[in-house]
Amino acid sequence: MKDLNYKSFRILAVDDDSTIRDLYQGILKSNSPSAALPNFELTCCSQGDEAVEAVKRSFEDDAPFAVAFLDLNMPPGPDGEWTAEEIHKVDPRIITVVVTGYRSTNFSKTGQQARFSDKLLYLQKPFHPREIIQFATALSIKWQAQKQLLTMHADLENLVEQRTAELVKSNRLLKIEIENRKRMQQELQQSFESLKIAMHSTIQAISMTVEKRDPYTSGHQQRVANLAKTIAEELELPESQIESIYMAAGIHDIGKISLPAEILVKPIPLSDIEISLVQAHAQAGYDILKGIDFPWAIADIVLQHHERMDGSGYPLGLAGDNIVFEARIICVADVVETMASHRPYRPSIGMDKALEEIVNNRGVLYDPQVVDACLKIFKEKDFSFPG
Ligand SMILES: [Fe+2]
Repeated sequence: MKDLNYKSFRILAVDDDSTIRDLYQGILKSNSPSAALPNFELTCCSQGDEAVEAVKRSFEDDAPFAVAFLDLNMPPGPDGEWTAEEIHKVDPRIITVVVTGYRSTNFSKTGQQARFSDKLLYLQKPFHPREIIQFATALSIKWQAQKQLLTMHADLENLVEQRTAELVKSNRLLKIEIENRKRMQQELQQSFESLKIAMHSTIQAISMTVEKRDPYTSGHQQRVANLAKTIAEELELPESQIESIYMAAGIHDIGKISLPAEILVKPIPLSDIEISLVQAHAQAGYDILKGIDFPWAIADIVLQHHERMDGSGYPLGLAGDNIVFEARIICVADVVETMASHRPYRPSIGMDKALEEIVNNRGVLYDPQVVDACLKIFKEKDFSFPG
């Protein structure tokens, strides 16, 4: 009972008979609060419409009645059931007890017909004071419990509504965030693609600049790039590595830009001094490219494209695994393309001789894995240089 936290309940007693009203006063007003019983604040009315007004006022004053005892017949005014119905229109929570001395009244039928049947009870006259106290106490406590239940229910609904709103909000923010990230990712991807295109165009422009000075080897770097890329694909290397090989091969002779044009176009074999000048192009290429921030080690690949597996190459004399794998692929592609093409100082040696060269020096000068892949694409996959 303490949990219900009541102090006193408002009771409405309506009867046209002043003796009965006095009786209510005597029964409920003399009741003092105790551990077992609540205190009651009694309001008496003699007519139904007066009672409806009292309920309206109680509602406006935010001091609602818990229970209303209503006499059934109250001439000349409306009866107790009309009063009960009107009262419930104003305050649907009030519990009404219709008190009647007429035994003929069909209580259950009237109760079932009422829209507020769960808030309508009947009590027969003559009543015992104890009945009034018991009805007032039990119904007030029920009224209080229902009030608390409604409050808890409303609180719970508010909480659910609040949490739902929060969830909807965070869901919306999350969606926006996901959309933003998707857009940013797309923009990044687009700018990455544009950068790649710009980089390839730059490489091509550099490559053309080198080959403009050396018309006899025009297209050499592009043909080496195509063959090196096909070898890399045959070896099933990762896409990014294939791209780095293609890019490095496309400019592997960039260092030749530092050579005198006469050497590049000289139609007779070169002297020893001229050969060492030509060999310096690997280091020169590295020097040009080392400052450029490529996504791959392009400068190192270019530097090492004339290294040989047995350490007999240049400029560093690197051997075996010390030579980056990308350079080992470009090396084989470079040798094959050079031998198969015409040079200022000699006609084409031919594709058969070129392939013979890499087979004879497989594992000595050239990486065996790369040689095998190169042979396979020429012999089994009909690779050929365009033009
Ligand atoms: Fe070269």
